[in-house]
Amino acid sequence: MNSIDIINKTKRRQPLSADEITWLVNEYTAGNVPDYQMSVWLMAVCLNGLTDQETVSLTAAMRDTGDILDLSGIGGITADKHSTGGVGDKTSLIIGPAAAACGLNVPKMSGRGLGHTGGTIDKLESISGYRTELPFEEFEAVVKQTGFSIISQSGNLCPADKKIYALRNATGTVDSIPLICASIMSKKLALNADCILLDVKYGSGAFMKTREEARKLADLMEKVGTAAGKKCRALVTDMNTPLGKNVGNALEVKEAVEILRNKTKGKLYDLCIELTANMLELAGKGTLQECAELAEDAIASGKALEVFRRTIELHGGDPRIADDVSLLPQAKYSYEIKAAADIRITAVNSEEIGMTSLLLGAGRTEKDGEIDMSAGIVMNCECGEHLAAGDTIMTLYSSAVSDFSSAALRALNAVSFTEIS
Ligand code: URA
Repeated sequence: MNSIDIINKTKRRQPLSADEITWLVNEYTAGNVPDYQMSVWLMAVCLNGLTDQETVSLTAAMRDTGDILDLSGIGGITADKHSTGGVGDKTSLIIGPAAAACGLNVPKMSGRGLGHTGGTIDKLESISGYRTELPFEEFEAVVKQTGFSIISQSGNLCPADKKIYALRNATGTVDSIPLICASIMSKKLALNADCILLDVKYGSGAFMKTREEARKLADLMEKVGTAAGKKCRALVTDMNTPLGKNVGNALEVKEAVEILRNKTKGKLYDLCIELTANMLELAGKGTLQECAELAEDAIASGKALEVFRRTIELHGGDPRIADDVSLLPQAKYSYEIKAAADIRITAVNSEEIGMTSLLLGAGRTEKDGEIDMSAGIVMNCECGEHLAAGDTIMTLYSSAVSDFSSAALRALNAVSFTEIS
């Protein structure tokens, strides 16, 4: 086998065999296929696509380049959840504890912020002391005790994805449905939970800009998960506007705690119930309606909050944040953007809100840059909401930036509204 024949086949839309795909992935990961050959193959995939069977083979080949976790020691049913990423998406911090409180085991590995989207690991690191890197035995022990743990991706899980993702980032080959599917699903299959629930986002703040594209990705991910013997379901959900009110690491943990404390309802709460219910149903805990009731009860009873508190404690974090969110990092500076007239909000651009939050310090502008855990935005501007002149549209927070003028302009540009006369 050789790379040129493989590149030519994909260029001519001739399907590759599983052996050819495995050869390419293994040889690239081992450093025997150069970046320039892998880059043109990736571009050929972007332009011509892959068959579903080729995507199944690519995902399996990538999974098999590293460790595949053995979760059998945890016992019970294990369930994993993945969101394709967005702005203000703190659902893992709510769904994991809620599902665990209903009897599932949720061992989860998450990533850091990417571009304008936040990452669950960064959010958890805003909790003083929380260790996101645990050896497998400790991760397993936390899940056995509380039913829930989130750690960062372990060193030897899908090394092929690490290398290919970095190359895609540098060659304009990220936005391909089969490549996104293989990248995400290879990591999910390496984690190896019994059930996989996928939340595929579409809209201004997501990788997939339209509902149709997101549905295509969701269908393909379900196919790949099922072909690998998993119970797998993919929902398609809206990321045209940020999820919830808070964007930024500590601010998002605060909002998650408020939901777990049963203090806040609304779209974020509803989505968390829907996702938890689907996870429970996938795991055989009842009908979707029964599972939604179980999820609501897990939050209303305080059981989900207790799982979160105990998990934080076992990770070395300060569990008191579950009762007192003022113990989370607080910004030194803040700036309120107020309505100049009576207005009705018509749209909020997630990507622009995510970028503003990043520029306030909540995300990285360089690969290993420092994050200001206190930075971000609290929005008071849901679509359809009426605000009177002088009302706060949103508040910007930062400990790194005290001059908010450019951030405020960008944030305000992200909000569309009509004046009410
Ligand atoms: N997240 C991933 O892990 N991989 C992709 O390709 C896109 C989003």
